[in-house]
Amino acid sequence: MVTTHVFIAASLDGYIARQDGDIGWLLQRDEPAEDHGYAAFIAGKDWIVMGRGSYEKVLTFDEWPYDLPVLVLSRQLADSPVPEALKGKVHFSRRTPKEVMNDLAAQNAHRVYLDGGQLIQSFLREGLVADIVVTTVPVLLGSGKPLFGPIPQDIDLTLLSSRSFPSGLVQSHYRVNN
Ligand SMILES: NC(=O)c1ccc[n+]([C@@H]2O[C@H](COP(=O)([O-])OP(=O)(O)OC[C@H]3O[C@@H](n4cnc5c(N)ncnc54)[C@H](OP(=O)(O)O)[C@@H]3O)[C@@H](O)[C@H]2O)c1
Repeated sequence: MVTTHVFIAASLDGYIARQDGDIGWLLQRDEPAEDHGYAAFIAGKDWIVMGRGSYEKVLTFDEWPYDLPVLVLSRQLADSPVPEALKGKVHFSRRTPKEVMNDLAAQNAHRVYLDGGQLIQSFLREGLVADIVVTTVPVLLGSGKPLFGPIPQDIDLTLLSSRSFPSGLVQSHYRVNN
């Protein structure tokens, strides 16, 4: 069985990036002395599924940060070759969330890290997210790329745990009651 898991940071007003994709407001809060649990989170995953927006941001980093295989969902990129340096590490697809779940099950995946606001929203709409860890950054951005968006009906969550850090970050872990 494949389950999908979200681990993401957002401003208090619910944005994961500014409208132009800038995440400087987040990186400048990065407190190396604080362990926000990312390493432990990713250690338990076997695939990453991300949207094109997140993939294009990661491409601007100094180096490719993931050891896990990454599936990038994108209509634009689906028919393009994966860059030479990322062959074997990255796969492009235009499959729907349900199809992706079936494909990953066929590949023997178990626990999948979902990343990207639009991508997470599409999996939430299909009832395909098991849990969400959201780390709230104490800043209001006013506008930007939202973590959550329109849904056809309420999605009930159960708070599993929450903690705060000296830097002011607040992290909450929710089970999604699909
Ligand atoms: N704060 C954080 O922790 C955090 C984490 C991750 C990302 N970010 C930031 O968030 C920004 C990207 O987020 P985003 O919400 O704009 O984009 P996203 O979800 O990463 O990517 C959206 C794109 O993915 C493609 N896509 C394919 N299948 C999809 C599906 N089922 N559902 C949704 N999209 C699908 C579409 O591209 P096509 O047009 O090619 O089909 C769509 O435009 C970046 O700036 C990144 O740096 C922040």
